[in-house]
Amino acid sequence: MKKTTPSALTSLTDIEIENLLDSIRNGNTIRDHTPQIAVNNKLEEISKKIDDASRQIEEIFDIVAKTGVVPVEEIKNEIMPVIRQAAEIPHIYHLFYELKSKDEYTYRHTVCVGIIATLIGKWLNLSQEELLDLSIGATLHDIGKARVPADILNKPGRLTQEEYREMKRHTVYGYRLLQDIPEISERVALIALQHHEREDGGGYPFSLRSEKIDKLAKIVAIADVYHAMSSSRVYHQAEPFHIVISQMQNDVFGKFDPQIMLVFLFRIMDSLVGRRVLLSSGEEGTILMVDPYEPLRALINTGDSLIDLRLNRGLRISRVLNDSIVGV
Ligand SMILES: [Fe+2]
Repeated sequence: MKKTTPSALTSLTDIEIENLLDSIRNGNTIRDHTPQIAVNNKLEEISKKIDDASRQIEEIFDIVAKTGVVPVEEIKNEIMPVIRQAAEIPHIYHLFYELKSKDEYTYRHTVCVGIIATLIGKWLNLSQEELLDLSIGATLHDIGKARVPADILNKPGRLTQEEYREMKRHTVYGYRLLQDIPEISERVALIALQHHEREDGGGYPFSLRSEKIDKLAKIVAIADVYHAMSSSRVYHQAEPFHIVISQMQNDVFGKFDPQIMLVFLFRIMDSLVGRRVLLSSGEEGTILMVDPYEPLRALINTGDSLIDLRLNRGLRISRVLNDSIVGV
């Protein structure tokens, strides 16, 4: 097995090398020194707000189903502040754990996709204008489902072909509901229309290829799939964190925008720096550093050696360990 030493890492700045050496001396690299209790309180507070916002979204879906009108002001004034506040939380790993849906799915999913997409937009340094469109569009990405019959929407078993066709129409229904609202931009409606399109043309409703898909819809596609995979639903159990991100890594080329996906994976993995992980070899170690271009192939400190997963392609992180909040 090839192992590396700090001196073998060539692309680090002096400060990074100093931090790295420091962390090796101290045996860990937990960079966030906020007391655990403060993090927990913050997460608990935002979790309650997300629950409230999810209930409001349920009412909004109900209004849309009955009237065909989207109450934009209510969304802007009451839902968006919660999304903005959640997207300010720096503890990404814990926040994402908190966002997992445990019971009710559809409405909470909507709020959580709003939060995750907003975070990705910030990581991509979008302009304020784009970020606003993204936050609203992500929160309303599935609003067209208000127009899909409830028995199809909540059916626990497999959908028939015709039911699936109807389900897929939620994209077009969403676009129609949003396109003529003067207070929101056309791009918000495009997010509803295009969030199931895929880079290789394998998505729906129009099998668009990469260059025809709006960047904001590409971001929402990633947030949507991430949250769906990490949540329990009527027909599937939540996948553990490491499975979700390795699955998404496998999809970097083909389904999703590779640049956006890399930024997303890097930020998530970077939030794990300092955490204990189990490697596929059975060894345990602490994540020391994450490469933006290969975020899953981190540098691991096992205590007596450093393992660079970029150089040990047969090894992988198989679990995140010892987490007092998440217990994964
Ligand atoms: Fe959707």
